Amino acid sequence: MEIKELKELFIKHYGGSGGDIRIFRSPGRVNLIGEHTDYNGGFVFPAALTMGTTIAARVTDNGIIKMRATDLPDYVEADISKIMDYKHLEWGNYQIGVAAELQKRGYEIIGCELLFDDTVPHGGGLSSSAAIEVATAIAFATFSNEKKGITEPLNMIEMALCGQGAENNYCGVNCGIMDQFASAMGKKNHVIFLDCKDLSYKLVGLKMDGCKIVIANTNKKRSLADSKYNERRAECDEGFVALKKELCGATCLGDISLAEFEAHKNLITNPVVRKRVEHVISEDDRVLRSVKALEAGDISEFGKLMNESHDSLRDLYEVTGIELDTLVEEARKQNGTIGSRMTGAGFGGCTVSIVQEAAVESFIKNVGDAYRERIGYDASFYVDDIGDGGHEVK
Ligand code: GLA
Repeated sequence: MEIKELKELFIKHYGGSGGDIRIFRSPGRVNLIGEHTDYNGGFVFPAALTMGTTIAARVTDNGIIKMRATDLPDYVEADISKIMDYKHLEWGNYQIGVAAELQKRGYEIIGCELLFDDTVPHGGGLSSSAAIEVATAIAFATFSNEKKGITEPLNMIEMALCGQGAENNYCGVNCGIMDQFASAMGKKNHVIFLDCKDLSYKLVGLKMDGCKIVIANTNKKRSLADSKYNERRAECDEGFVALKKELCGATCLGDISLAEFEAHKNLITNPVVRKRVEHVISEDDRVLRSVKALEAGDISEFGKLMNESHDSLRDLYEVTGIELDTLVEEARKQNGTIGSRMTGAGFGGCTVSIVQEAAVESFIKNVGDAYRERIGYDASFYVDDIGDGGHEVK
């Protein structure tokens, strides 16, 4: 929705005039490589999209947060003095969770009216929830700072941590930091090489060499909370405890090299757990090689690593499924495909492919047709640009 239209709708819902409406935005993300590594203190390589959450907001300072969305019937009124009482909300719990996290960090949550407009497909694995969380964090924190007369820019890593904290502590989703970090810290035409152990990062310019990033959505509904996500986390923890018996200096799987894993993998007696850990440690290594390849402008090496990543997620981590595997298989059959893999948590959601620009149209047609034929319903395709992270739109 255009900002003008969003403001008009805001006035329709909440009344008043447009002069005091503020606009905040934060994007979804696509992870190019480095999957299920973030919660193991490993490396990820995501980028912010241009799809995202836009919030129209107005300060009321009356102790109540009022919220609506452009595409939902829900209306939420949350009393700031009872911030922990809204965990049950089906829509609105992420936002109130963010308020609770900001409060813990000393921000003052101020009564306001909010209208949310989302363009990231919900439940599609492109971090629609992180987009909501980070945009909300920026709005609440901006209002708090203004009330207190604080003029420094927001600490965007803190905004990301509040988003993750809302998921972990308020919504019961045990996610890592990747999605919120990418939403908060993204930069147009750049990919974020992030070390999730200490949140040090580097922005890598994306030289696409005549290629495009094509995202394909399986349209299979998935939810992180009831997926096998937490089970995978527990398996990684179990594997780490076993390896640590001999690798005493390691604080997480991200500290363990591929060579060390090879030398000590027999400490992990459960073969399933060993496969999970092998994925995480080899994926970390692939991220390092991917960053080097992209920095050297070697897009075809990068594509190969993307393919290896998917195969590892399919065979070792077992989080793909027929829908994602079909999209990837069909993508790889197309002339002009450089690499293709699932992105995000898996169990449905999206794939990301690097495709030569001239082949994008036929890619979408051919992969789409084959997917419908094999799965029985349509996939959706997006050719999105890499955009900026969260900010107030002035
Ligand atoms: C989801 C989580 C992230 C990350 C990915 C898998 O997107 O929110 O923290 O764990 O899955 O890489």
